[in-house]
Amino acid sequence: MSENTYSSYLHLDTLLSAQDCATDADSELLFLTIHQAKELWFKLMIHELEGARRALYAGDELRAYKILSRVHQIQLVQIRTWDVLSTLSPTEFQVFRESVGRDGASGFQSIQNREIEFLLGEKRRIRSFDTGESVRQVDVIAMHKDPVVQERLTRRCAEPSIYDATLNLLAQRFPDAGIEPRPAQGRDYTDSMADDPRVFAVWKRIYDDQDAHMSLFQLGERLIDLEDAFRRWRFRHLTTVARVIGRSTGTGGSAGLRYLQQTAIEGMEDFLYPELWQVRNAIFEGQ
Ligand code: HEM
Repeated sequence: MSENTYSSYLHLDTLLSAQDCATDADSELLFLTIHQAKELWFKLMIHELEGARRALYAGDELRAYKILSRVHQIQLVQIRTWDVLSTLSPTEFQVFRESVGRDGASGFQSIQNREIEFLLGEKRRIRSFDTGESVRQVDVIAMHKDPVVQERLTRRCAEPSIYDATLNLLAQRFPDAGIEPRPAQGRDYTDSMADDPRVFAVWKRIYDDQDAHMSLFQLGERLIDLEDAFRRWRFRHLTTVARVIGRSTGTGGSAGLRYLQQTAIEGMEDFLYPELWQVRNAIFEGQ
């Protein structure tokens, strides 16, 4: 066996030889590195979200809370990195945009980003490039040309999200509430959309009597942290794109800024965890 060193353990030979720029433009290394770093963080997020989902199905909300705290910290790092990319001026990007966006290449094709969306429970908020209509994510999977990718995303979309796993836990903890169980296996969650008055009623009980339900209350607040950061990630992408390419169309084939604006704004009106937002309305409406 070869000697274990810092660089052999980290596979630095492979990692640091992957910054293979397509042009000689000075700022391309920034662009490439940011994207690669984001994909590495995405990989870790997927791993952690799967762990949180397992913990929820095992009935261990404290462990899930611990893991989701880590996911949230990763989201905050991800949001912060848009500031680094924002140092890219339009003229710097113009020099290499056509080369890196050749053949329709775009962040839209990030498979891991979609997997994170599915694990978080985001299965519908996407805009058709052709009609601009809001469509289900599963219906645009076909835009990925590779059948292996299509299969991977279709399977992932059918899996329960962390919110499905949370609602399953609530169904077990509050058997009198009539919440429908959402088992880990044997069900297709492609169309899983929460917005259920019975779920709202349970969250309201939890928020009204936090001392009695402290761990579930903390879990609820952590889910809000995740959704809040998810929105901010999208808004920072949008504001970065606005300053770098203005209103020009996307290399992936969308209307560019307008497409990103629509999805970001919809995220303020169409919730991942609707009942947790309804609880906020109810508290201030005195219900
Ligand atoms: C200067 C840098 C960037 C520009 C100008 C840009 C531009 C765009 C545009 C215009 C779209 C819409 C789809 C299209 O027509 O291509 C898009 C989508 C997307 N981009 Fe970026 N982007 C940039 C950086 C990044 C980075 C660093 C990431 C991180 C991985 C990223 C991830 C995504 C994702 C995930 C989508 C799909 C969003 C959705 O469908 O809701 N982008 N980008």
